[in-house]
Amino acid sequence: MAEQDWFVDNNGLIRQSAMSEGDSNSMVSGAPSYRLYRFLTELEDILIRISDDALRLQAIVPLVRKLIDHADWIQMLPLQPDPDTGWAVSMLYDEPFFPLTIQLVAWAPGITSPIHNHATWGLVALLSGQEKNTIWQRSPTAEHPDRIEVRDHCVLNPGDILCLMSDAIHNIEAIGDQPTISFNLYGETDYDRRLEFDPIQNTAEIF
Ligand SMILES: [Fe+2]
Repeated sequence: MAEQDWFVDNNGLIRQSAMSEGDSNSMVSGAPSYRLYRFLTELEDILIRISDDALRLQAIVPLVRKLIDHADWIQMLPLQPDPDTGWAVSMLYDEPFFPLTIQLVAWAPGITSPIHNHATWGLVALLSGQEKNTIWQRSPTAEHPDRIEVRDHCVLNPGDILCLMSDAIHNIEAIGDQPTISFNLYGETDYDRRLEFDPIQNTAEIF
């Protein structure tokens, strides 16, 4: 099945495009692995050159696809969900004053995440397993300004990439019988705007 790119805007709308052969930045045969430092350099160039988040994500997707296609070490890192919590995170890069989050995340089968936004642009590339994303949109009332309702769903398969704008609201569920492993990349989080939502109580809280 062709790899898919998904894009969730601030209103929860999903757009989808299938990757075609050759869309990925191909590499010369015999070239060294796509090193993390090259990825970071090219990523920083994009962030300096492009200020619009949607355009940034569009420009970053091919880099991430090249990384997951050509950096074999990423697939080899041992990461398993914690048996107590059902999830685990492994930071791949963390540098003061270069406020990016780059990590691998594992979820155990059947685990569902809280409903949240990221308060920054974000990108998730699924490496293994199968991840169902439920996309929510705000549906405020006078009484409940943080009310949300389901807008859409998408299922990520290995090789698929999901882009999230800063106010996109989602939660994930690891479906299938294998843990999910994903490569996650986020910009600089605005912690005052990062929220977890409760669709039963119609509330949202900073987390
Ligand atoms: Fe998320």
